[in-house]
Amino acid sequence: MQIMSKIDDLRHQCKQWQSNNKSIGLVMTMGNLHAGHMELIKAAGKHADQVIVTNFVNPMQFDREEDLRAYPRTMEQDTLLLEKAKVALLFAPTVEEIYPSEIEQVSQVQVPGFVDRLEGQARPGHFVGVATVVTKVFNMVQPDVAVFGEKDIQQLLMIQKMVRDLNMPIDVIGLPTVRESDGLAMSSRNNYLNDEERSIAPKFHQVLSKIVKRVEAGETDYRALENEAIEELLGYGFGKDYIEICRIHDFEPAQAGDKNLVVVAAAWLGKARLIDNIKIPA
Ligand code: PAJ
Repeated sequence: MQIMSKIDDLRHQCKQWQSNNKSIGLVMTMGNLHAGHMELIKAAGKHADQVIVTNFVNPMQFDREEDLRAYPRTMEQDTLLLEKAKVALLFAPTVEEIYPSEIEQVSQVQVPGFVDRLEGQARPGHFVGVATVVTKVFNMVQPDVAVFGEKDIQQLLMIQKMVRDLNMPIDVIGLPTVRESDGLAMSSRNNYLNDEERSIAPKFHQVLSKIVKRVEAGETDYRALENEAIEELLGYGFGKDYIEICRIHDFEPAQAGDKNLVVVAAAWLGKARLIDNIKIPA
C-alpha cells in the first residue's frame, strides 16, 4: 500500500491509473477505523480496480473546538488495518496541505434544503465543512465510485444531491450501518463511553427499533411517537438532542400517509454524541 500526504503525489498516481484505464474507488474517513469503515472499503474494492482511502480529521466540519481536539487519532493502527485490506493508496494529509491558508477564507460548498435540518441544525457549519472537503478530495482523485455509510444518512444524501446538482461524474454508493452485536452503531465516538455508559448505549438503537415496529404496525401519530421515545431515552440517562420520523426523499417530518420513512436521532450519553437511524420501507 502506498501512503501519501501530498496532493500532487496523489493526483499523479490517480492520473496514471486513469490513463491505464483502471477505475478508482474512494472511501473517505477521519481515521480511527472500525468494521463499519472496513465494509465500505470492501465494497469499494468490488466496484473499482484501485481503492483509495483518505484519513483526515477535517477541522472545517467541527462545530466545537473541544470535539476536534478530542477526536481519536490512531494512524498507526489504522495503517495496519488498511495494509491487510485491498487498499492501493492511503492519503493522509496534514491540515496545512488541505487548508494552506485560513479555513474561513476557503471557498465553501453549500448544499441547500434538508441539509439545514436535524444534524445541520444541531451542528452549525458542519455540513458546509463536509461538502467542501468531499468536493476537494473528489477533485483531487476524480474517482469513478465513492462509498459512504448510511450511518450518517443525512451526509450520504447531501453528497448524492451535491454530485447530482454539480454534475460530478461520480457514482456515490451508500452502505448499511454496521453494528456491534448489541445493536449499537459502530462509531469512533463510542470510545468516549465509560463502561456504565457503554452498557446503556444499546438502548438508543432499541428505542428507535421500537418506533419502527409501531410505525410498521400502522401507528401514524409520529410526533407522539417521537416524544415518547425522547422521554424513554431521558429516563435511561441520555441527554436530549433530536428524534424525528421523516421522509427519506426530502427529510421533511413525516405525516400520516407518507411512505419511505426513516427515523433519525442523535442523543448525548456522557461525553459521546451518538447518532443513528433506521429506514422504514413503504
Ligand atoms: P467518518 O466518521 O470517519 O466516517 C467515514 C465513513 O464511514 C462515512 O461514510 C460514514 O458514514 C461511514 N461509517 C461510519 N460508521 C459506520 C458504520 N457503523 N457503518 C457503516 N458506515 C459507517 O463521515 C466522516 O468520517 C466524514 O464526515 C468524512 C466523510 C470523511 C468527511 O470528512
